Amino acid sequence: MDNRPIGVFDSGMGGLSVLRDLKSALPGENFIYFGDNGNAPYGTRGAEDILALSLAVAERLMERGVKALVIACNTAASAAEETLREKLPIPVVGIEPELIDAKARAGGKRVIVFATEATLRQPRYLAARERHCPDAVSIPAPELVLMVERGVLAGEEPERFFREKLAPYPEREIGAIALGCTHFSFLKRAIRSVVPSVSLFDGNARLIADLSAALAQRGLLADRGEGSRELLTSSEDPAVLQTMRMLMEVDVG
Ligand code: DGL
Repeated sequence: MDNRPIGVFDSGMGGLSVLRDLKSALPGENFIYFGDNGNAPYGTRGAEDILALSLAVAERLMERGVKALVIACNTAASAAEETLREKLPIPVVGIEPELIDAKARAGGKRVIVFATEATLRQPRYLAARERHCPDAVSIPAPELVLMVERGVLAGEEPERFFREKLAPYPEREIGAIALGCTHFSFLKRAIRSVVPSVSLFDGNARLIADLSAALAQRGLLADRGEGSRELLTSSEDPAVLQTMRMLMEVDVG
C-alpha cells in the first residue's frame, strides 16, 4: 500500500477529462494534476520541443514525490512516453487514440480520428493506425484545443467546426469517432449534436486499466477510502485555474 500521489499532466485543460475518470475509477488515490497551460498548445510544436516540455513537467511532478506518472495528453505521450519510461524510476502510462475499440464498433464503416497535428505525424500513431485501423481518416483539429482552453465546450463554435470537418462523410457511413486528444472529450456534446448516431471513443478506459495494473503489480495502490486532488498550472492567469475547476465539475454528457 502506498498513499503517495499520482502525477497527471497535459499541455493544459484536456487531461482534466482523464483526471475525472481516474478519480471515479481509483477513488482512494491522491492525484496532483499539472496543466502546462503556459506552454499550450503542444500539438502545433515539433517533437523535440514537446519532449523537452514533457521532461520539465515530469521533473516538477517528481519533486512532489509522485509514485506514478500519467501522461494525459496524446501529443506528449506520442513524443515522450518512451523516454519518460526509460528515465523515471516510477511507472509511466500514457494515453493513445483508441483505434482498437473504435474499429471494432465501426463494423466496417468509416473510423474518423480527431487529434493534434503532432500526434498524427508521430511514428507511434502511424504504426498504430497501420496495425489496427489502416483505413481510418485522420483529421487534425488544433482549433478545438484552443476552444477548450477558453472553456468553450458547446454551441455554435464547436458545432460549426464538426459540421464542416465531417461534411465529406455522411453520418450513415461513419461507424466511430476516436477522440485522439484529451481536450476533445470535453466536446462530446457538440459532436453528438452534429452526428448523434456515431459512437465516440476516448483512450481513458485503456489508460486506467494500464495504470491500475501497474500499481497493483508493484503494490502501489492507496489504502484510503477517499483520495484528494490538487490542480496546478504553469499559467499565471488566475482565470485558468477557475476554468480548470469548472471543467472538473461540468456535465460533459
Ligand atoms: N490534450 C493534448 C492531447 O491529448 C494536446 C493539446 C495541445 O495541442 O496542446 O493531445
